[in-house]
Amino acid sequence: MGDMKGQVAVVTGGTRGIGLAISERLLDRGVTVAAGYATRHDHAREFAGKYADRGVSIHQGNVGRNEDVLRVFGEVLDRHGHVDIVVNNAGITIDKTVRKMDPREWDHVIHVNLSGAFYASRAVLQHMLERGYGRIINISSIIGSAGGFGQANYAAAKSGMFGLTMSLALETAGKGVTVNTVTPGFITTDMTAAVPAAALAKVVARIPVGRLGEPDEVARVVEFLADPESGYITGQVYPVNGGLYMWGPEEPRTVKPGTDCRMGTGEPDGHDSVRDRQSYPAAGLCHPRATGVSAGERGFALGSLGDLGL
Ligand SMILES: NC(=O)c1ccc[n+]([C@@H]2O[C@H](COP(=O)([O-])OP(=O)(O)OC[C@H]3O[C@@H](n4cnc5c(N)ncnc54)[C@H](OP(=O)(O)O)[C@@H]3O)[C@@H](O)[C@H]2O)c1
Repeated sequence: MGDMKGQVAVVTGGTRGIGLAISERLLDRGVTVAAGYATRHDHAREFAGKYADRGVSIHQGNVGRNEDVLRVFGEVLDRHGHVDIVVNNAGITIDKTVRKMDPREWDHVIHVNLSGAFYASRAVLQHMLERGYGRIINISSIIGSAGGFGQANYAAAKSGMFGLTMSLALETAGKGVTVNTVTPGFITTDMTAAVPAAALAKVVARIPVGRLGEPDEVARVVEFLADPESGYITGQVYPVNGGLYMWGPEEPRTVKPGTDCRMGTGEPDGHDSVRDRQSYPAAGLCHPRATGVSAGERGFALGSLGDLGL
């Protein structure tokens, strides 16, 4: 691990949820954190009070407005003098199917979740290039990789981050600046707290690790990418999802006990099915993982999870 003492990080949405965990990880490394927020003054004040002795600052603004972002970076530079790390974490959802989605709802999510990352990166870029050092980390989502039912705006914005990350990484690779993306799966924050318990239970049933992730489990990957010793990693995407992406969306199929699930037919076929009977002996369930068909062949989509606002 490199020495990060004296570095300055801007973390958008850095006073609650995943952003707060990122701020706290960086603070633990001796980084001075300038945390952005939009409307929740209560969380921002609490953060500022709790870490006043570490020199933190809080900055209100809408990352979806370039003027706000330029103002905030001006405030940060006036206050702290330089910026080493930018974490584009602020994000929102407005979930509706495309048929019902108003263009303003599309625009708003794209502005906050994607343009916000562009505005912030652009606001700090010249500064980082002049100093020959920088770490930009974008917080995307598994929905950006897989799509989401009722989440075309969110998925498009989060997918867009991949292109932004790779293009900016190419433009800065020889100049000491790295740009990477982290794609969380389902993490315990206010975003997931809004999901009905029954729907959340269905999600958890599909996560191989068997639970939601914690904000700090995302934050530790951000900390790793922000480390001065991570200078050879750029333009990359880091999933943190409890194995969800390799699982696939299907529910286990109920079949007669002893069925050879590996054949993917759900019917007894006389082949050796010891492994599957051992896995699902009494229940008579064929789990997708036991069909012998890869996630890619089954077709991967998190569409049925898409109404969960992630
Ligand atoms: N939670 C998950 O399961 C999950 C999964 C995948 C990806 N993500 C992504 O991870 C990031 C953080 O998510 P979270 O779950 O921690 O969300 P959260 O708890 O809802 O917090 C969102 C943060 O973003 C800030 N924010 C929202 N709109 C903003 C705007 N227009 N301008 C500036 N700041 C704004 C909020 O500020 P205020 O406090 O002022 O409201 C808040 O600090 C998001 O980009 C999200 O898409 C989350």
